[in-house]
Amino acid sequence: MDSKRTHKRHTVTAALPYANGPIHIGHLAGVYVPADIYVRYLRMKGEDVVYICGSDEHGVPITIKAKQEDKTPQQVVDHYHALIKDSFARFGISFDVYSRTSSPIHHETAAGIFKSLHDKGAFTEHESDQYFDEENNQFLADRYITGTCPHCGYEKAYGDQCENCGTSLSPTDLINPRSVLSGNKPVMKKTRHWYLPLDQHEDMLRKWILEGHKHDWKSNVYGQCKSWIDQGLQPRAVTRDLTWGVKLPLENTEGKVLYVWFDAPIGYISATREWGEAHGKDWEKYWKDPESKLVHFIGKDNIVFHCIIFPVVLHAEGSYILPDNVPANEFLNLEGDKISTSRNWAVWLHEYLDAFPGKEDVLRYVLCAAAPEAKDNDFTWRDFQARNNNELLAIFGNFVNRTLVLTHKYFDGKVPPAGELKATDKEALESLAGFPEKIGEAIENYRFREALSQMMNLARLGNRYLTEAEPWKIFKGDPARVETILHVCLQICASMAVLSEPFLPHTAQKLQKMLAVDKVPEWQEAGQPQLSAGHQINKAELLFEKVEDATIQAQVDKLMQTRRDNDAGKAVAPQKEDISFDDFTRMDLRVATILEAEKIPKTKKLLKMTVDSGIDKRTVVSGIAEYYTPEEVCGKKVVLLANLKPRKIKGVESHGMLLMAENQDGSLSFLSPEKAFDNGSTIS
Ligand code: 2FM
Ligand code: ZN
Repeated sequence: MDSKRTHKRHTVTAALPYANGPIHIGHLAGVYVPADIYVRYLRMKGEDVVYICGSDEHGVPITIKAKQEDKTPQQVVDHYHALIKDSFARFGISFDVYSRTSSPIHHETAAGIFKSLHDKGAFTEHESDQYFDEENNQFLADRYITGTCPHCGYEKAYGDQCENCGTSLSPTDLINPRSVLSGNKPVMKKTRHWYLPLDQHEDMLRKWILEGHKHDWKSNVYGQCKSWIDQGLQPRAVTRDLTWGVKLPLENTEGKVLYVWFDAPIGYISATREWGEAHGKDWEKYWKDPESKLVHFIGKDNIVFHCIIFPVVLHAEGSYILPDNVPANEFLNLEGDKISTSRNWAVWLHEYLDAFPGKEDVLRYVLCAAAPEAKDNDFTWRDFQARNNNELLAIFGNFVNRTLVLTHKYFDGKVPPAGELKATDKEALESLAGFPEKIGEAIENYRFREALSQMMNLARLGNRYLTEAEPWKIFKGDPARVETILHVCLQICASMAVLSEPFLPHTAQKLQKMLAVDKVPEWQEAGQPQLSAGHQINKAELLFEKVEDATIQAQVDKLMQTRRDNDAGKAVAPQKEDISFDDFTRMDLRVATILEAEKIPKTKKLLKMTVDSGIDKRTVVSGIAEYYTPEEVCGKKVVLLANLKPRKIKGVESHGMLLMAENQDGSLSFLSPEKAFDNGSTIS
């Protein structure tokens, strides 16, 4: 419980990305960059650490995508797994293992943990009514069902979550539910499932989180956990009626798999097993020894799964440790808008790497500096440019470059001796000595922005010292003094080559090469002088290049084009040709009431309605079944175009048309008179 105590080893996980799309800057800023900084730092301290990740390859969105693209789910995940794995490697995210949940080792591990919990009696088993799509002969779990969110009224909420207000939902919470597969209104059908009785673990959770981690967990994480626990935990189904996923390891359970959120976090364990087997390591110690420290890096939408559900699984199994911390971040926006895969509103990692070769560290820097640690934050290309030009280039790069160029100019690239130290030199070296601890303390407490800014303060210290000492002005008269000044500057550069590594690994390596350092000290030693007098350094190379306006403009233009493409779909229809007043008065528009309605079988959209027009009672067919159920429309006052010639639609004679407004997203809404006028009232 005490995160300050020392541990024998560290198990660090980064959320498994869904293998149904590429990685974008939101994922990186929220999870992978902070986790990578943390792990690189621990390794530099000489700690035993394993850094785990892999692709999350099950779940309904993957099967829906496969269906849309006429592929198998395996083909979809194979494609994205390869793309994601490659882009992480190119970017320098230093996982010890990047595995995947469709692998046999994962299926075996996840099924094994389910079976062990089952045999211990950790689940409850019930039969219940669930939504079923008769046309597709399938139960409608999670994202297979959509409808209106009962909390915010968003019409495209899913059976597991409303993406508009973020509320976690059950399919039966949805208003006007529809099958994503057929668009039909689902029917209820009985099915049997296994539930994790979270309510039975409330005491453990209260003690462990609410009492044990009040002060060391981030307030956003602690607050979400507290609110879940205080609202009363409910049993949670951990199985689904689907074919894509980990099959249930129980007799007579054909067609049932583990819920993706049950199997995915177990993916961390399977990946550790895979790594252990490949490297001759005892993976179990990393998950079962209380002297191991487990930390999960995630985004805020994953908090409940990592702080409540998965820990309950681990605890119920009995032999696993619980996470010491779950430093979840908030969300990163892009140019003021929510990042969205479906709207292509993102900066994709693989595209960035192609467009900015050699600038991996610039993106790492910007994403860490603007990380949404305590609240949502915004990425803008202008900020990217400013941070590169005014910080990395003007502060870090400039100090290193000036120091190395002057060392070559005055001393042929040999580290000069320290000589006699004045108060300013001693102050600089003393200040330097404190940096490993200052930066380390911030990293260990998951304050990565602060850690980065401390690291930059080291470069600022160097710049200030060099600028104030003005060696270029005194070399002629006092070369010994210049020896001291450059000696101190070179020690600062050498420390930067170590202490920047967690944040800017490519830059740190380049700098180590330039300084001809072949043995990097451990983190704690990195504030001490490392270069001895006479050591020959290599030529100065530029660590950062200026990012030009045109480069940034090209990226901004690309996003503006995306915005236009997205808006094009929503364009307001152009005005039609003018008509005369006579043309208008030829339309006989009446207030009417819908009396009865039913769906026309084997169609997705058509409702057959009986309408009281005031003139008569007649049948009207409308293509509105995707937006209204028969029950909803009965009793509605509407506007009827009464004198439209009768016509047959799917064998039904429709007499007249009900006026509808069509929204930019294609959804339909009735027009109704504002006051409850009599049927047959004319409209002019
Ligand atoms: O939200 C997501 O992207 C999930 N794929 C994260 C899973 S994390 C872990 F539990 F596997
Ligand atoms: Zn909602």
